[in-house]
Amino acid sequence: MAAITTVGILGCGLMGSGIAQVAATAGFQTVARDVSETLLEKGRAAIRKSLEKLVEKAKLEPASRDAALGRLELVTELAALRNCDLIIEAVTEDLELKNRLWRELDGLCPPSTIFASNTSSLSIAEMAAATSRADRFVGLHFFNPVPLMPLVEVVRSVRTSVETFDRAVEFSRRLGKEPIAALDRSGFIVNLLLIPYLLDAVRALEHGVASIHDIDRGMQLGCGHPMGPLTLLDFVGLDTTVRIAEIMFDEYREPRYAAPPLLRRMVAAGLHGRKSGGGFYDYSVDPPTPRDLGLAR
Ligand code: 3HC
Repeated sequence: MAAITTVGILGCGLMGSGIAQVAATAGFQTVARDVSETLLEKGRAAIRKSLEKLVEKAKLEPASRDAALGRLELVTELAALRNCDLIIEAVTEDLELKNRLWRELDGLCPPSTIFASNTSSLSIAEMAAATSRADRFVGLHFFNPVPLMPLVEVVRSVRTSVETFDRAVEFSRRLGKEPIAALDRSGFIVNLLLIPYLLDAVRALEHGVASIHDIDRGMQLGCGHPMGPLTLLDFVGLDTTVRIAEIMFDEYREPRYAAPPLLRRMVAAGLHGRKSGGGFYDYSVDPPTPRDLGLAR
């Protein structure tokens, strides 16, 4: 089996750009694809900013930054990924959208190309079934911000071959990440525990248990978390969290995965978190301040 040298990334958003960055930094030829030049430009800017921060903190040599940027190609054409040894998908959590892309790539790529999804909650087996290579289909779930978080969940579906799983584990290590093995069940390991915790924080706020500030400070100072749950929700994205919760609720039918009304109303109102300028906090001011969400006093 040929070694992995060229990696394709589908989607150049928050996660896709981070994955592209770590792949290029680790020495892989990296081709990242998104649907428009505007989205690619946003991805490129995020990668440059992150690499710059790492250089500033002396965590990366300027020459390595330049080499990483030199190994990175940003494209709009899906066909540009046809020669990749591994393709990692990081598009919106929408099974239909993902499967459309997988079906097209299945026809473009040689049988040796491994397909991997960065999904956090959808079924790897269902995506694999859209292709003719279910044994070469695996989950590779990264964490935000990808350049800093050392974990990758490697997910084996009922059809993933041991060889594909082992190669995905080896690839994760070459990125400098620590892989852990997870079952193909919605949420894998981390989100299975994290999502109910985040939803409970919103329920606590909604039920008047405490303020935004005090819920976050409680978990930071009492449990040593780097971010409180409401700050973390803003960081992950409220829309993304609702989507993940819906998929997990669909899988397990347990109330703890049901997104509370406040979270749904905030998403409906366009408060999607840090990326939209606002969520539980208002990011147009420095430091960000808790928002008045119209809750009973
Ligand atoms: N690239 C490079 N460097 C970055 C960066 C990036 N994208 N973002 C932050 N940094 C650097 C900063 O420059 C700073 O460097 P320094 O420590 O040398 O000064 C350092 O990281 C810390 O940054 P900040 O001071 O701005 O902020 P924090 O101290 O709060 O650290 C954090 C940021 C590492 C993100 C930390 O808050 C953290 O670990 N938060 C929790 C993140 C988390 O839980 N992620 C998982 C989310 S769940 C998920 O992704 C799964 C999905 O499926 C939902």
